[in-house]
Amino acid sequence: MSMETIKTECQAELNLVEDAKQLADFWTKYLSKTGEVQKLMGGIKNVPKEEKKAYGQAVNEIKTWVQALYDAKKEEVDKKAMLARYDAETVDVTLPVKHTEAGNLHPLTCIKNEIIDVFAGMGFEIFEGPEIEDDDHNFTRLNVLKDHPSRDMQDTFWLTEDLLLRTHTSPGQIRVMDTEKPPIKVLVPGKVFRSDSDATHSPMFSQMEGLVVDEHITLCDLQGMLDQFVKALFSDEAKTRLRPSYFPFTEPSVEVDVSCFKCGGKGCSLCKGTGWIEVLGGGIVNNKVLENCNIDSSKYSGLAFGIGIERIAMLKYGINHMGKLFENDIEFLKQFKA
Ligand code: DAH
Repeated sequence: MSMETIKTECQAELNLVEDAKQLADFWTKYLSKTGEVQKLMGGIKNVPKEEKKAYGQAVNEIKTWVQALYDAKKEEVDKKAMLARYDAETVDVTLPVKHTEAGNLHPLTCIKNEIIDVFAGMGFEIFEGPEIEDDDHNFTRLNVLKDHPSRDMQDTFWLTEDLLLRTHTSPGQIRVMDTEKPPIKVLVPGKVFRSDSDATHSPMFSQMEGLVVDEHITLCDLQGMLDQFVKALFSDEAKTRLRPSYFPFTEPSVEVDVSCFKCGGKGCSLCKGTGWIEVLGGGIVNNKVLENCNIDSSKYSGLAFGIGIERIAMLKYGINHMGKLFENDIEFLKQFKA
């Protein structure tokens, strides 16, 4: 193409360009390395020496001119494309909102995690035992002898003469002491099963067992740890009170109360006017249990406790029926969104 043809055709062709594809074709035809302008540049070798300078300048002017035309057109095409996109993307603000609901942790999971956090901070490790246990681990080696009432058919779900659904997480103590030497510091979370059902009982519920075995462990260690636990879960002002109790696997055994976190101990409906709420059981591991696990009870002593997770959740959140924790009613569970 001669310079003249380029000048006239270029303009005419560009006038017909309407979209990015046509514009790209135009660029290839005129401005690319193999395009018409470049071909003109190449033609310089056939131009007589004395005309080369003028020829070169003329081609450069053409190149600048075509480039300017191209740039202006590009702006126009881009703007048109953008407006078309805006048109296509118009949002109808009157449409109902689509929302995806984010889930949240179940309150029992939250309580379980909170408890684990407190005790992990004191160096406890987690151990999980089986839900199907045998008589030996669930009862006998925990010093719950054959005629103990907790073995009663009305409490325990027996599977065979020897196998049962564990009635507490305490068998975890035996399993840990069978495999580890003192010092031992473990938490055993898990589901437990008892044939019992009313507002504050369910046939399946969750417990968290604690066990520490070392030299010179006393009830003071137990109370110190549980003080930290109630402060973290209920309130900075919460205190514990130990009352004498009885469990076959601990001697002495205690029932642990927390000072009422609702009234601060003055007496209210939650604490039934006493200022104290019972939260868990514990004690000093019975020597017989240590010996059943071949741990020298003249050298070592242990503390143990068992926390009912549903009970803690019900107290902390003011839930009046345990069933609510298992119904999976979304409206109920939503309230526990962190
Ligand atoms: N296993 C007991 C229960 O299910 C709770 C318990 C009491 C656990 C005292 C303990 C303990 O480790 O020392 O009721």
